[in-house]
Amino acid sequence: MPLRSPFTIFVHKKMRHGATRGQRFPHKEALPVSAVCFLCKGISTIAIRYGRSPRAVPNTIKDKSMKWFRKEKEAGRLFYSTDLHSHILPGIDDGSPDVDTSIQLLRAMQSWGIKHIFATPHIIDDVYENSPATIEPACQVLKAKMTQEGIDMEVRYSAEYRMDEHFRELRQSGTTALIPLPGQRLLVENSFLQAPIDLDEILFRLMLDGIQPILAHPERYRYFHENKEIYHHLHSNGCHFQVNLLSLAGYYGKTIKEVAWWLCKNGMVEFLGSDLHTMEQADAISAWLSSKEFRKVEELLPSLQNDRLSTDK
Ligand SMILES: [Fe+2]
Repeated sequence: MPLRSPFTIFVHKKMRHGATRGQRFPHKEALPVSAVCFLCKGISTIAIRYGRSPRAVPNTIKDKSMKWFRKEKEAGRLFYSTDLHSHILPGIDDGSPDVDTSIQLLRAMQSWGIKHIFATPHIIDDVYENSPATIEPACQVLKAKMTQEGIDMEVRYSAEYRMDEHFRELRQSGTTALIPLPGQRLLVENSFLQAPIDLDEILFRLMLDGIQPILAHPERYRYFHENKEIYHHLHSNGCHFQVNLLSLAGYYGKTIKEVAWWLCKNGMVEFLGSDLHTMEQADAISAWLSSKEFRKVEELLPSLQNDRLSTDK
């Protein structure tokens, strides 16, 4: 017998005696539940129109009721709100190719709890010779789109400087040619093939000029892995280290992951960074932030300095 009203409850005799097993809940949208029958005062089965097939409804009910008994798995969030290393500005390096992708990347970062972003496009000799003349317009394009999309995040820019010949020339033309992070910090990187021969001297001279070097993803330079003493050497001489979230997550492979965790455990990590280029990387970070492994990172890095960047000048 079909139920016509959402409030129709039919109980007892028709259900208990008149229907065969197959007809017991003849209406597809009837939900079987148990209740006290007001006529016979015994426990009876009633059917309530629910608006879904009986097969789907119990699952819904089950889902709703089970949440009282199990902890929902929540999307993981970072324990800081400032990211200092990303390639989200559209069209000026190997990161985001266009402003729509940049917006997607921003939305992913927002879901991790990031509120302040320092975009750091590559500056590499003969490859990406970015400068304020290319970075500023890309940043303005992104900010205009953010306003359109109602994205409430702060985006500023600096750069990721490859320590190469172009960088040497920039330094020689004076520190005003550089685009530092707040606190006169500068994100620098090695080539992935070899370290600069005069790495010590470059870092030393930067510090003499009042600039605090932050070496980007030291765990990714495989030529450092054979002799980890180099990490102690650089760090004890005043260079700060920025490890990639993706390295800790294992995105670049097992060895890089091990070195990233080793640096954290040995108190050599001042900053964590997304180094975000693509949505594939964003998805990898999102998945890892929900893992148990990620929760250990905060315990290892009680003095992380990321959020100082949004307050320092
Ligand atoms: Fe980078």
